[in-house]
Amino acid sequence: MTSVMDREHQVVMQTYGRTPVTFVSGEGSWLTDETGKRFLDCLTGLAVVSVGHANPRVAAAVTEQMNRLVHVSNLYYTEPMVELAEHLSRLSGMDRVFFANCGATANEAAIKLARRWGQTLKGAACYEVITLDDSFHGRSLATLAATGQPKKQETFQPLPSGFSQVPPNDIDALAARVDDATAAVMVETLQGEGGVVPLEVEYLAAVRELCDARNLALIVDDVQAGMGRTGTWFSWQQLGFEPDIATTAKALANGLPIGACLANSEKAKAFQPGDHATTFGGGPVVCAAANAVIAEITERDLLKNCTERSEQLRSGLLGLDGVASVRGRGLLLGAVLDEARAGEVAGAALDNGLIVNAVRPDTVRFAPPLTISPDEVDTALTRFATALG
Ligand SMILES: Cc1ncc(COP(=O)(O)O)c(C=O)c1O
Repeated sequence: MTSVMDREHQVVMQTYGRTPVTFVSGEGSWLTDETGKRFLDCLTGLAVVSVGHANPRVAAAVTEQMNRLVHVSNLYYTEPMVELAEHLSRLSGMDRVFFANCGATANEAAIKLARRWGQTLKGAACYEVITLDDSFHGRSLATLAATGQPKKQETFQPLPSGFSQVPPNDIDALAARVDDATAAVMVETLQGEGGVVPLEVEYLAAVRELCDARNLALIVDDVQAGMGRTGTWFSWQQLGFEPDIATTAKALANGLPIGACLANSEKAKAFQPGDHATTFGGGPVVCAAANAVIAEITERDLLKNCTERSEQLRSGLLGLDGVASVRGRGLLLGAVLDEARAGEVAGAALDNGLIVNAVRPDTVRFAPPLTISPDEVDTALTRFATALG
């Protein structure tokens, strides 16, 4: 019989360098492949399945909503979306939400909102967004233009104009780039795809100050670091500042596709009816899933578990031969190896039943579920030690 892998090679566009494993089921922190082998999932589909695979509360909420109402479009009102917007507003301290379908489309909304705000306030020439080197904001054309990784941009020129990058943690470089055309500054507080690199807290405070002084919108891309991943609902909440606009996506519905752009009232009101729209955004099923995720994180006190398991994982990793340092916050950690062999180590970990990924030649990313238990963290550490060899 032809394998799933061979069939994929015939009919799916070859845009991914997939690892040769075919998963068939999951439960909690564990995945099972087609041979029945079990893997401890310390990557959660790229920081997505935060309340665990086949989470019963999410499954029940989705099933119930599937049986009741799946889709009506944004021409009409539906309650799960409004409930989710109320939750996100309460948890983030931001006033209004636009629902998108993934991280890139949440960021597209944020960029369009910032442009609309800038142009309404300061005129047509005010639309530029400054982002950071090594950032990652998505693969649509505008979010790719925002992404500070020239290699990913190379083959898609010309990209939309209105974006430029400056080095992270250098406030003078940022201040020097701001001019009358600048509408916004967009940052991740922790660059996940860029190698699990946290920005300095003092830098983020200085960015906030600069945005206030020059009347710029500060956008935080919390697509990867939001929804409890770093130990607070949103990553900035432990860093002493607030953005004007923020996005989140990955973990919001535990694996169902959704994104959200949040904004304070002053920025949000720049969007007028007709300015932005999407057919699927905020649909009842994904919003029911996200409402269940929020209930799960709240009732199981998973932010606390995130912080405690983070300390356990960080100190355990630091004790392993071959690990030089550990970067990151909460349960988004990068183990920096003393040699550039992260790909080889992640491969050995997989053979040993542990899922992690190489995010830089010398850095292995850990993003386990927020539900991970102390015993499972110990298992991850034992398996990773074997992989380090
Ligand atoms: C910080 C950040 N922004 C945006 C994105 C894009 O999200 P999506 O792949 O859902 O479009 C990602 C994905 O890794 C991300 O990490």
